[in-house]
Amino acid sequence: MKVLVIGSGGREHTIAWRLAQSNLVSEVICVPGNGGTATESKCKNIDPKENADLQFLSFNDVAVTVAKKEKVDFAVIGPEDPLAEGIADALWNAGIPTVGPKAQGAALEASKDLSKVFMKKYGVACAASETFTEKEAALAYVREKGAPIVVKADGLAAGKGVVVAKSLEEAEKAVKDLMDGNAVGEAGKKLVIEEYLQGVEISVLAAVSVTPETAANGKACIKAFLPARDHKRLMEGAQGPNTGGMGAVCPLEDVTAETMAQFEKNILQPTLKGLVAEKMDYRGFIFFGLMITKDGPKALEYNVRLGDPETQAVLPMMDFDFAELCQAIMNGTLDSFEMKWKSGFQVAPVAVSGGYPLKYAKGKVITIAEPVISHAGAKIFIAGAVKDRRTEGQPLVTSGGRVLACSAHGETFREAWGKAYEAMCGVQFEGMFYRRDIGLPGAAESN
Ligand code: AMP
Ligand code: GLY
Repeated sequence: MKVLVIGSGGREHTIAWRLAQSNLVSEVICVPGNGGTATESKCKNIDPKENADLQFLSFNDVAVTVAKKEKVDFAVIGPEDPLAEGIADALWNAGIPTVGPKAQGAALEASKDLSKVFMKKYGVACAASETFTEKEAALAYVREKGAPIVVKADGLAAGKGVVVAKSLEEAEKAVKDLMDGNAVGEAGKKLVIEEYLQGVEISVLAAVSVTPETAANGKACIKAFLPARDHKRLMEGAQGPNTGGMGAVCPLEDVTAETMAQFEKNILQPTLKGLVAEKMDYRGFIFFGLMITKDGPKALEYNVRLGDPETQAVLPMMDFDFAELCQAIMNGTLDSFEMKWKSGFQVAPVAVSGGYPLKYAKGKVITIAEPVISHAGAKIFIAGAVKDRRTEGQPLVTSGGRVLACSAHGETFREAWGKAYEAMCGVQFEGMFYRRDIGLPGAAESN
């Protein structure tokens, strides 16, 4: 089988790597891919910017055109933006089976208001909230509730749309900045203002197979993967500015079976009930952002895709064929698909460009000492790096803030941690920075 993977980050490199390991898969076409997928076994990149016949097409048309030309058997969509733009609808309409929800399902991430309406309607455990489109009403509400309080832009805002306000002044400023369109533009014209939840955060990624057929035959299902944790702050000890993610671990020693059972009952099952009741065609992945509070897990958000960098820690723990999982999602047999997991732990710290998440240089040559990586038994997943084709030998050079992750497995957390950081010592580029505490006590975000 040939598979199309859409996206260019570390998540997509990991997805492509896992698909390429399947005996069912002969080739993985990555659009646009990155410097990691460029050299991964069985993988080939197609960059629309470098193809005259793709350059001026909409992204949905690019996906359909490549899928048809390459005769792919199915597609896997990495990021949320194309899903919100209906890439899954376009591909299914063109006869290409696709892993990733159609636009109706993708709206669960694209609109915070819609996702809260959905959660409340179907009894998903979550923070109390109200939605506002009028600034004065929003300000009156935060004054009435007081701080701490959480102010969220309704629309997709690349991680910049949420303010956890510790004081009333901060909350009022957030309301004004977001609603005046200064902070995140149109995305902030509607606000969700939410109860502040105290606890520690985790990410549960899951496979979803909900279609009118599975809804009718009772086979609609969501199957959760092992729990994982991202580390979003730049500095050790969960300090400094928010980033796209500085590293991930899977599974989590501090998450009990009881917590997972509560999650299943109070969050996962009501979500499934909602997807079925809303007659969604949702075949893909869902990511539950959870706060583990003293009253059990509460849903903070849905993402309609796999997490980045969680994927770099979760997918290597899979002891089953990822291509078979994709097929089960698409053909409605997920309910009888057995997910087996490796024992032990996976740790995946991320190396970023100096200055990230603000200003940082690009084009820095990356050197990777292969003997160090193989001694550690680690896998490097490339995120913001490309092959520099203008230079002799086509070296890997940085092209983004988050550059790569070193992902390693161990039977104990400590072993996995040691191997991942041993591998990190084999990577070098000018300005390289990484947190040394991924997965350690005190590293997780909590409040
Ligand atoms: P979201 O995009 O909704 O996941 O929010 C981004 C981040 O803001 C989360 O990862 C949490 O760290 C924080 N956050 C969101 N909602 C709340 C809440 N109700 N209480 C406390 N922190 C929150
Ligand atoms: N790791 C958080 C996200 O993918 O949104």
